[in-house]
Amino acid sequence: MKYIYLLICLCIVFATCKNNNQVLDTDKYLNFSLQQAKRYLEYNDDELKSPRYIKPGDVSWTTKSVNNWTSGFWPGILWYLYEYSEDSFIREQANKWTLPLEGAKNRERPNHDLGFMVFNSFGNGYRLVNDPFYLPIILETADSLASLFNSNVGTILSWPWAIEEYDWNHNTIIDNMMNLELLFWASKNGGKDHHYDVAVTHALTTMRNHVRSDYSTYHIVIYDSLSGDVLNKTKYQGYADNSMWSRGQAWAIYGFTTCYRETGMEVFLETAKDVAKTFINRLPDDYVPYWDFDAPNTPNEYKDASAAAVAASALIELSAFIEDKNESEWFHQSAINILRSLSENYLSDGSNHAVLWHSVGNLPVNSEVDVPIIYADYYFIEALLRERKLQNNF
Ligand code: GLY
Repeated sequence: MKYIYLLICLCIVFATCKNNNQVLDTDKYLNFSLQQAKRYLEYNDDELKSPRYIKPGDVSWTTKSVNNWTSGFWPGILWYLYEYSEDSFIREQANKWTLPLEGAKNRERPNHDLGFMVFNSFGNGYRLVNDPFYLPIILETADSLASLFNSNVGTILSWPWAIEEYDWNHNTIIDNMMNLELLFWASKNGGKDHHYDVAVTHALTTMRNHVRSDYSTYHIVIYDSLSGDVLNKTKYQGYADNSMWSRGQAWAIYGFTTCYRETGMEVFLETAKDVAKTFINRLPDDYVPYWDFDAPNTPNEYKDASAAAVAASALIELSAFIEDKNESEWFHQSAINILRSLSENYLSDGSNHAVLWHSVGNLPVNSEVDVPIIYADYYFIEALLRERKLQNNF
């Protein structure tokens, strides 16, 4: 009896190790994403209706106008799927769903989301097909984003609307780190040199004021727009001012990793590693975080697949920058653990048009809770493509 028990234990250990060492089947999940995208394109051919999330029980996406902050993700998904499949129909569709976002470049009241909107759509498109029509749109959008920079503070004003609505003077949110890539890119591709300095200054100021001593992050820092003094540190989508909102922490990993790629400044690499370790070390057993790491009823809280997808994508890139082999492998394996869990436990069964289930948009106001959300799919697909490139040494 004792020997049978021992044999069963050995089999379990062996099966677990084997699973961890298996190469992630990126083609399987990219093909599934492609199939889901084609199904949705048959269902909705109106490029002015931008998919955002799926209500419980619905088959398809609830749509928003192209002015919504999430409107760049669907064309971005199509560009990634074109990159993967080289399917000319997908390329045509990617272009079709990208063009309506042109208006973002000079909108009357810009906010930091311009990067999500225009760089994911026109930016990915330009990278892949070099359409000369796209370039000035990207550069003008970068100018609009940079116009929100306040040199007294050293950051971009993220949400101009919140100045009146919440009395949040010069507010900067951690999500804003994601939109610096547009500025770096513009400064190197015919845009203003100054955008590079704006991005670096924003990231350094964010590093000082958003990142806590335990390397978790605040969601929002509010500054005095004249003196640059920090007035308050607070939250919008997280559980509490001092908690670690999962997607915010994922944005931080991604944003600081991008800053290192674009500048080569060690301080950004170290910060990316620090915020990543804090995220990874606090993940639950299935590697997908609850919507906030400090949510009070954990483990009876909702998971956020979108935070997991953003982090996985960032961790793959981060791991490739780390020279120490063991350390690099640790970050890479953490990304694979997350991706494997998303692929095996969070993947749509095909009964709706999404790729991933179980994301959380804004729990404190009960909005988009435990549903598929378009940006979870975008970063999941991006992560799969990044991993596929690593596997194939592209
Ligand atoms: N503002 C982007 C997000 O909800 O994460």
